[in-house]
Amino acid sequence: MISTPLTSHFGLTTPVIGAPMAGVGGGELAAAVSAAGGLGMIGVGSAATAEFVEQECALPRGRGLRFGVGLMAWALPDRPDLLAATIAARPDLVSVSFGDPAPYVGPLRDAGIAVAGQVNTIDDGHRAQAAGVDLLVAQGSEAGGHTGHRATLPLLQEVLALADRPVVAAGGIATGRGMAAALAAGAAGVWIGTALLACPEALNSPAARARVRAAAGEQTVLTRAFDVAQGLAWPERWPGRALVNDFSRTWHGREAELRADPEACARVAEARRTDDLEQQPLYAGEAVGLVTVERSATEVVREMTAEAEGALRAVATLLG
Ligand SMILES: Cc1cc2nc3c(=O)[nH]c(=O)nc-3n(C[C@H](O)[C@H](O)[C@H](O)COP(=O)(O)O)c2cc1C
Repeated sequence: MISTPLTSHFGLTTPVIGAPMAGVGGGELAAAVSAAGGLGMIGVGSAATAEFVEQECALPRGRGLRFGVGLMAWALPDRPDLLAATIAARPDLVSVSFGDPAPYVGPLRDAGIAVAGQVNTIDDGHRAQAAGVDLLVAQGSEAGGHTGHRATLPLLQEVLALADRPVVAAGGIATGRGMAAALAAGAAGVWIGTALLACPEALNSPAARARVRAAAGEQTVLTRAFDVAQGLAWPERWPGRALVNDFSRTWHGREAELRADPEACARVAEARRTDDLEQQPLYAGEAVGLVTVERSATEVVREMTAEAEGALRAVATLLG
């Protein structure tokens, strides 16, 4: 068994956190990760409802499983209902990502909920630590979904140097070898999203899962085009990493023109309604090339853990 400050804090049997993924990670996915001894999280996007939070959190909780919820700091000033619903759902962990977590740490901790801050720069790391989060998540730009511009390994090493509390690594980790590398670097655990995109417990469609399984690691793009098209108030410093498709091929790098083209913008909303994979965002990270089969998140986490144990043992033999 791999023991770290993360596993002892949350009573886990493996230091794996199933990343919150808006639109993909609901209660079933979180429950499947937690059933393997990790900590599954539920992703709450800026357009989610308080009812969604309540319903999805009831799934792992109803089975006596630990779970977490991921909120987006930039969206919360306009959506106090999402924070209130999250606190009412009593998760074990809440992450407050993409913005300053300071206003939310107090209310969450007062409710007995641990807080994680996902950070993309050194300044973010200092800010999250000053805000009093329990856990720092160093998220590299290899990650699927919205992210910053620093790669995981250098960012992780710098955040470890500044941190006086556990740091978890996110971005590009989808195998036990990758997990072992992050742990060897000093991370207290790994935060995996893309590795779970082809799991049947996810909220994405079977067609989207098939597309994920077929995609190579070179076929992602870090772009603001989908946010611009949907008129989302995402701050510019966090573009999103998605699978390359017809829409991103046409509009990535032409965001100003896109903003002035209501027809093109409407296409994304329509594509999300009809599940048109060429015109909607399919957020996925560079590790997508490692995701080739559809299997339960419980199995993904178990296999990753077993492989990491083997990799860590093998590394120890290098010492002679
Ligand atoms: C489809 C998708 C949706 C995501 N949504 C969120 C989200 O709602 N909140 C959040 O904090 N991070 C979100 N992320 C980022 C993850 O929390 C995590 O940092 C990332 O998946 C880790 O990198 P990996 O994809 O290479 O494993 C999302 C990622 C993906 C792939």
